[in-house]
Amino acid sequence: MEQILKVEHLEKYYGTRGNVTKAVDDIGFEVQKGEFVGIMGASGSGKTTLLNCLSTIDAATAGHILLEGTDITRLKAKQLSKFRRTKLGFIFQDFNLLDTLTAYENIALALTITGTPASEIDPRVKHVAEELEIGDILAKYPYEISGGQKQRVACARAIVTKPALVLADEPTGALDSKSSRMLLESLETLNDDLQATILMVTHDAFTASYCRRILFLRDGMIFDEIVRGQDTRKQFFSRIIEVQTLMGGDNSNVL
Ligand SMILES: Nc1ncnc2c1ncn2[C@@H]1O[C@H](COP(=O)(O)OP(=O)(O)O)[C@@H](O)[C@H]1O
Ligand SMILES: [Mg+2]
Repeated sequence: MEQILKVEHLEKYYGTRGNVTKAVDDIGFEVQKGEFVGIMGASGSGKTTLLNCLSTIDAATAGHILLEGTDITRLKAKQLSKFRRTKLGFIFQDFNLLDTLTAYENIALALTITGTPASEIDPRVKHVAEELEIGDILAKYPYEISGGQKQRVACARAIVTKPALVLADEPTGALDSKSSRMLLESLETLNDDLQATILMVTHDAFTASYCRRILFLRDGMIFDEIVRGQDTRKQFFSRIIEVQTLMGGDNSNVL
């Protein structure tokens, strides 16, 4: 197996002497190529902070983050923006599509920004669009397509650059259950058919049940880890609820 991500003794503290919040408190884990990993935990457990450190939006207080062997905690500002553009794909809660661009242009823009040769752009956009079954709406603008189609365009945009890692923070947080299911199926497509390595933060057990492995955070530390293995999604869901109960977490706790 090929290692994509290695997090070592990661710490992120907020505040000053006497009033310190250990948002991430000595976390370590690895992600192999092709994994679909969930990060779960109650509100305030450090999920977003961890993801922001991985995406270099936030600087770690201590520790190391190796992505494809490069320690990204050591990169300079200019290297960081290139790293983010080329190595990471993001799926945002509100999808962040540009309203003045068609679906095709929204996806192609990700490639233009990374300096992909023009001749490669069209086949790559069409390939991911076909996998995500949005080939027939590429000429439409975001306001002309359904919420589910917008999600798939956003997924296409996140993956078209072939990033080493796709990051998603509470991607189903603002969706009803039908839309959530559709988005999760798109993420499965990215993972199964387009070989994307995905790290998804969620507080929701149903959403997490689509992952193959889950890390549970509590007070900035890894409390437990479970692997889906041969379990059906329903069985995995039950195990997730068991761990949440064990953690004393409040299942209704949102964000
Ligand atoms: N910018 C910040 N300044 C100070 N404290 C923060 C900041 N961001 C997060 N925290 C604190 O760090 C802890 C973890 O927050 P967060 O990572 O947002 O948790 P989650 O995403 O799991 O809800 C919380 O106690 C939160 O109040
Ligand atoms: Mg959060």
